Amino acid sequence: MRLCFAATIALIAAHSLCAADLTGKWAVTPAPPNTELAYYLAATGSTFTGYLSQGQNSLAVTDGKVDGDNVTFTLVRGDVKTIYTGKIAGETMTITVPASAGRGGGRGRGPAFGFGTPPAPNTAPAQPTQQIARRISSAVPPPMPVPPAKETLMPPAAGVKYNNLAKTPPMGWNSWNKFQARVNDQVVRDVADAMVKTGMRDAGYLYVNIDDTWEGTRDAQGNIRSNEKFPDMKTLADYVHSKGLKLGIYSSPGPKTCAGYEGSYQHEAQDAKTWAAWGIDYLKYDWCSATQVYTPDSQPGAYSKMGQALLDSGRAIVYSLCQYGQVDVGTWGANAGGNLWRTTGDISDNWVSMSNIGFNLQVGREKFAGPGHWNDPDMLEIGNGGMNDTEYRTHMSLWSLLAAPLLAGNDLRSVAPDILEILTNKEVIAIDQDAAGKQAVQVAKDGDTQVFARTLADGSVAVGLFNLGSTPVPVTAAWSALKIAGSWNARDLWAHADRGAGTDAVWANVPPHGVVLLKLTK
Ligand code: GLA
Repeated sequence: MRLCFAATIALIAAHSLCAADLTGKWAVTPAPPNTELAYYLAATGSTFTGYLSQGQNSLAVTDGKVDGDNVTFTLVRGDVKTIYTGKIAGETMTITVPASAGRGGGRGRGPAFGFGTPPAPNTAPAQPTQQIARRISSAVPPPMPVPPAKETLMPPAAGVKYNNLAKTPPMGWNSWNKFQARVNDQVVRDVADAMVKTGMRDAGYLYVNIDDTWEGTRDAQGNIRSNEKFPDMKTLADYVHSKGLKLGIYSSPGPKTCAGYEGSYQHEAQDAKTWAAWGIDYLKYDWCSATQVYTPDSQPGAYSKMGQALLDSGRAIVYSLCQYGQVDVGTWGANAGGNLWRTTGDISDNWVSMSNIGFNLQVGREKFAGPGHWNDPDMLEIGNGGMNDTEYRTHMSLWSLLAAPLLAGNDLRSVAPDILEILTNKEVIAIDQDAAGKQAVQVAKDGDTQVFARTLADGSVAVGLFNLGSTPVPVTAAWSALKIAGSWNARDLWAHADRGAGTDAVWANVPPHGVVLLKLTK
């Protein structure tokens, strides 16, 4: 539709006389999963205003201008104003979303505006993306909806009782790092089979965890259903259990998950009961869109609500908090009934991401870890192809020293022998699973070298000599730094070799981005 003004000034170019009237509803296609993303615009001459709406959320559109086929407008997200440009062709508008515009820019998934978690650090330069919006109505839009007031939820004073699970850090597999939205019933069955066949199960990896994108709609009674990718969760759980494995699932305290699927908001107890009836053994609960409905202070309350619901479900369900380490989670995660809590944003399969999370963002958190409640520096990327074996051995060693959950994130249906060897090194897994549950302390840091050490239940000491630099260097752990004295025997847990005894320090030449992992025994 075009709105033309009387051509009183003949000198004005024809295109500025007829500004396209953008009034109406413009739906972004393809729509994000289970939701609608649409621009509601109201034009006056060649200017327009309006809002971009997704679910219960809206962002204001201001300063809209049409000039011929070109469109510009400003999208207001809190204090941040981003200028968008676009081209109109009939009833279709192609909008360029600048790389700086929130979630989706440069990440290659999700809509170009988002709610919930900010994007994980991405080392690749962000690129602008394009949105196609089609006009599906020319009606003058209703006013921008006022967002519902955010609730503040307090945790119960007595806390949520410990569920007696995860005495050592949970081990298993999670679908997200490799499969993202491509996970389905068959993949889960095949991975379960592979976990048995490859020896992963026998090495201790027990949980097969379905991450985001399994969720369907709710039935008339509000019961959550799986979507078409998972025809029958109970049957799937039976299958996984028949392999001697356990099944995990994912949800959010908010109305939607990070990928835009149905969350558990206002259905907490009901969902916990449904999962228990299906035979679910593990829940990852991801904050995401909960920011829309709760104040940040509500995190302990919102997580306690599900913690209690899981306890009341009558099934033993490991409870994994995923809120990226916000609001000092170490101080309240266990009280909310959590067995583990993420400490950072999402890991990526590259050295910068893994080493930043492992070496820089865990130090000082050791006081919060112990049997039943663990810091979670995110899932393993071992075998996903973005790092070399030396770096993956560093990943495995560091996570084990940190008493981190070991959730493989690769395609176990086709795992290469070198990767399997890294994931199933029994001597390294034994460090992670040590009964004392003491997370390693960073005991030395000098240039590109770091030493982490943890005391094990039998009194021996696990020591990681790490080289973060790009040339080989000797890395030393002095007894004074380890707070030990006398003669100690060293065993190299990757070489599977005893290295003799020392009385004051141990050192090793460590390759770039590599580790020598030792167990010192008196
Ligand atoms: C967040 C989490 C990830 C993954 C995705 C799924 O980004 O931190 O681990 O669960 O959501 O959408």
